[in-house]
Amino acid sequence: MTKKKILITGGAGFIGSHVIRLFVKKYSDYEIYNLDNLTYAGNLKNISDIENASNYHFLKIDLVDAIALNAIFDEHKFDSVIHLAAESHVDRSITNPLDFVMTNVVGTVNLLNAAKNCWKGNFENKLFYHVSTDEVYGSLHDGGFFLETTPYDPQSPYSASKASSDHFVRAYHNTYKIPIVISNCSNNYGPNQFPEKLIPLFINNIRNNKPLPVYGKGENVRDWLYVIDHARAIDDVFHKGKIGETYNIGGFNEWKNIDLIKVICKVMDKKLGREMGESEKLISYVIDRAGHDLRYAIDANKIMNELGWQPSLQFEEGIEKTIDWYLNNQDWMDEVTSGNYQKYYEKMYSNNAE
Ligand code: NAD
Ligand code: TYD
Repeated sequence: MTKKKILITGGAGFIGSHVIRLFVKKYSDYEIYNLDNLTYAGNLKNISDIENASNYHFLKIDLVDAIALNAIFDEHKFDSVIHLAAESHVDRSITNPLDFVMTNVVGTVNLLNAAKNCWKGNFENKLFYHVSTDEVYGSLHDGGFFLETTPYDPQSPYSASKASSDHFVRAYHNTYKIPIVISNCSNNYGPNQFPEKLIPLFINNIRNNKPLPVYGKGENVRDWLYVIDHARAIDDVFHKGKIGETYNIGGFNEWKNIDLIKVICKVMDKKLGREMGESEKLISYVIDRAGHDLRYAIDANKIMNELGWQPSLQFEEGIEKTIDWYLNNQDWMDEVTSGNYQKYYEKMYSNNAE
């Protein structure tokens, strides 16, 4: 019997690396192909532990390159796609929206076209799974939660590009009958996240006694999920999700930024043997992010009830594991924060103090 061939995009990034590891280890009867063009956020060290597995293959390809995408579909005849590759940072999307249009919109359409050209209307055992974000729903101001039926209302160039890609995926299902499934997840945290995002950035800054740039008053609310629980949910949606459906993923774990930051400071004081309250002194309120969404909160009842998924970790345990990982993997942090990252950080945060 030929093995099922799955193309996973963005597998050298934060969430993708955890998804690749889970699939390579759990499904020895699948051939896993990791497509990634290794942008600043892609790092093969994130998956060095499985790079020699016999069911793992790496393809360095840019999603914008439609010819290369068609060629790999011709060569490998993938059965399924799990599409995670994206430009993923809101602040970068404010500085350079076109990069987000190219990868997230054009790249997704290129990938849909390659699957469509390869599958040629024969969709038996085929699936195009698109991994998206809760940010497509916009910002909650008056309570409530994002449901799968909440109308799209993206507010940042990042979320607009992800919303657009979601629409294209649904349009290809509707128009060409490509079997699709979409999931929209809340903010992830955990090992291997690039330190431009709040949690790893602040862990690294505390360790190095650098200021903690809190946007605005720190009142914005995010709903945090441990990355391995997201990878487990992707496994469930991939294997049990209904074609054409959307699943929201989240752990009912809302935190106001400033409260979350104070928890990180306390855990860091404990881990670094510092006097309690020392890390909090690094908090520095800076000019707010333009168009900063106030609150995200996911209603995850559908995936819990229909697919039986549950988050496995409580936040207190997850944040402690996360901090331990970054403190024990200083080489990883030093490598990704050298070079171009320094220039990004200086540009993004210089003259930003209020
Ligand atoms: P990330 O930025 O850590 O990784 C993205 C990966 O995609 C990198 O390995 C990068 O090299 C690759 N990539 C980027 N552009 C590419 C291109 N043109 N061609 C090929 N590869 C390219 O992102 P992440 O945080 O792991 O997010 C993964 C997916 O999950 C994204 O689609 C994102 O929208 C979604 N998501 C993220 C979160 C979160 O909290 N991080 C939450 C919900 C959904
Ligand atoms: P981030 O990790 O960039 O995720 P997202 O914007 O996709 O939710 O930011 C999480 C929250 O933290 C968001 O409300 C913005 C805020 N934030 C800061 O206050 N300071 C920072 O330096 C960063 C990167 C984020």
